[in-house]
Amino acid sequence: MPFLKNTWYVAANAPELDDGLVSRMICGEQIVMFRASTGEIAALQDRCPHRFVPLSMGRRVGDSVECGYHGLRFDGTGACVEAPNDDETQRARTCVKAFKAVERDSLIWLWMGDPALATPETIPEFAFFSDKETYTSIQGYS
Ligand code: FES
Repeated sequence: MPFLKNTWYVAANAPELDDGLVSRMICGEQIVMFRASTGEIAALQDRCPHRFVPLSMGRRVGDSVECGYHGLRFDGTGACVEAPNDDETQRARTCVKAFKAVERDSLIWLWMGDPALATPETIPEFAFFSDKETYTSIQGYS
């Protein structure tokens, strides 16, 4: 099924990322997301390149996600930053696809298309989601 890729998609409510890893299917791709210590949102393909285990079944370690099977770790750019046997060659040639993600108005927005075309200024405004004094919102995912 074809999807519009060069556009922004709401992937999560921002507070969901306070608890660690969040996995969602967007445009037919399983994505794992987490918030780095800098506050930036990391969005990676939720599939370890080693044996295709969902990275969301692993754990967050600092600003990286660690695969639960053999322990490869990937940072928010998708680069492999740790390999259990500390093999420099394996780290250099292993990576996962990363997606542009922006947190705005208590929502996590993902750009699934060409990253060079990602324009955060075109994200629709939902400022009322952040206005907790005037509005009440009900959040959840099912
Ligand atoms: S399956 Fe992920 S490190 Fe082996």
